[in-house]
Amino acid sequence: MCGIVGYVGSQKATPILIDGLLALEYRGYDSAGIATIENSTLKVLKDKGRVNNLYNLDGINELEGTVGIAHTRWATHGQPSKLNSHPHMDNSNQFAVVHNGIIENYADLKKFLETNNYKFFSETDTEVIPNLIHYYYTNGPVSILSDSKERFLGAVKSAIYDLKGSYAIEVISTICPNEIIAVRKDSPLVIGKGDGENYIASDIPAILKYTKDFYLLDDNEFAVINKDSIKFFDNTLIEHNKAVKNIAWDANAASKDGYEDFMLKEIYEQPTAVRETIGSRFYLGKKCSFDDIHITKEYLQSVNKIFIIACGTAMHAGLAGKYMIEHLCKISTEVDAASEFRYRNPIVDEHTLCIYISQSGETADTIAALKLAKSKGAKTLAISNVIGSSITREADYTIYTHAGPEIAVASTKAYTSQVVLIAILSMYFAEILESTSYAEIEELKASMVDLPSKIEQILDDSSKIKDFAQMVYTEKDMFFLGRGIDYTVALESSLKLKEISYIHSEAYASGELKHGPIALIENGVTVIGIITNPQLVEKSVSNVQEVISRGAKTLIITNQILPSSNFDYVFNIPNTHPLLSPILSIIPMQLFAYYISKFKGLDVDKPRNLAKSVTVE
Ligand code: F6R
Repeated sequence: MCGIVGYVGSQKATPILIDGLLALEYRGYDSAGIATIENSTLKVLKDKGRVNNLYNLDGINELEGTVGIAHTRWATHGQPSKLNSHPHMDNSNQFAVVHNGIIENYADLKKFLETNNYKFFSETDTEVIPNLIHYYYTNGPVSILSDSKERFLGAVKSAIYDLKGSYAIEVISTICPNEIIAVRKDSPLVIGKGDGENYIASDIPAILKYTKDFYLLDDNEFAVINKDSIKFFDNTLIEHNKAVKNIAWDANAASKDGYEDFMLKEIYEQPTAVRETIGSRFYLGKKCSFDDIHITKEYLQSVNKIFIIACGTAMHAGLAGKYMIEHLCKISTEVDAASEFRYRNPIVDEHTLCIYISQSGETADTIAALKLAKSKGAKTLAISNVIGSSITREADYTIYTHAGPEIAVASTKAYTSQVVLIAILSMYFAEILESTSYAEIEELKASMVDLPSKIEQILDDSSKIKDFAQMVYTEKDMFFLGRGIDYTVALESSLKLKEISYIHSEAYASGELKHGPIALIENGVTVIGIITNPQLVEKSVSNVQEVISRGAKTLIITNQILPSSNFDYVFNIPNTHPLLSPILSIIPMQLFAYYISKFKGLDVDKPRNLAKSVTVE
């Protein structure tokens, strides 16, 4: 979704701001803009279209300011257009604002400002913010202050107090031309600490090449950023200190590093991501442990229900987690889409453990679902890939995947890392509860340690998947089948295909086929079967035979010896513990979606209509 960058220092701000916006392109956007202050005047350049278009705008090369804010917009209120792009200014051209999120009460605020003679030029919710700041600067209680810095901060605070909704905001003003004010609520914002220069971004990768020292702004916290200082204030403007966090991500991790696309790079990074996520969380013969959490036997024994709540791919990782927790811990586990959970009055109390999975840690529905469960007395545990992200700050417990930054919109290495981490969490709970035999857990651990090399083996065989993708990339519909944990992979495979290839696809539990969907199977339709569970091979193969006899073209992903051979293509993957099979069987499916998208000539990393981080409902 929208991206924010800010710079204050001694260098020309424009190249740094545009560079940051380019690094945020993966979040998805439709317009871009930039504002700097020069000779006490605000200069704003913006338009719909790609960030690189900014270089074609008249005057971009003449922007000499060393303080600036920038934005990529993903349209919510008003279509993509120059007028609706950010930054937005107030009527007096003294304040410029960029904003991520949604101001829910903007219509009321607009009416109020209009009755005070303010005019509006865009259809956005954001435009009320600079005008409200101006209103309070000139009319509010702070208007009597003689110190312009205090008055500016006071006006921003008064304006923010009026906003309902979610926001990450940067403000610059001709009144205090050497500073940026930043504030957030339910939308991420980080401040990068440099030497004689400081940076702001909605997402760490935007400024990772300039610094690894970050302040993670909290909800309702204000920051005033100059080139030599960063000051933090609470929502009553009392100043406080804040600890800086060193983020150990490698700056190269946010570049393509020789790969054609981020998605391909991230698919190939999975052996490393899995290795790093296992880290030192277990060793053969030793119990699992997490540095960051300690959960007692008493507490786990009191839990009679686990919910896993997430969205999209993260929810599919959660579905695999359900099989693991129920098998190893014998606790009934339900998986829910965050957007459903939050509105269906779920039965949750102090005996419920709610696990939230979010790569970004900023997904609005997932965060809201977490707050709901907390308010009902449940304990909450977050699984995230981003240190200090919003979800990790709300949850009672947090454990991190170590996938490194994931830039491609279609999630790959985050998914496999999430499945690995839930597997470790399930073993950790099972060891505490003594609910699974030592031998089985040791077998699982041994299988897990072998996963990275097995993923490498699959990646070495990618040309076979490319060949199959070439055979079918012009098709309009495809179907994915699986039973048990393979069904969860079918769901994820189908999502991967539709989001980057725009081919309509459906995933079905194989046994459900004859209850309706089989009516869709006709001559030439592509059906992909995932068959990894030794107990379910015969049944799964029978379901595939049903579609073959109706003319379907079939690809089978398997680690089993199959009782028949009349499939068009079989892709063999290495064997592993059945609970871990999603981590291997998804790899050819990610490659399949990737190659189809490439054959169709599509933008793999930035599929249409999608955003990396869905920070609005
Ligand atoms: C699909 C994909 C999305 C995300 C979903 C949740 O490839 O990436 O379905 O999984 O938007 O995002 P996070 O994990 O950041 O909460």
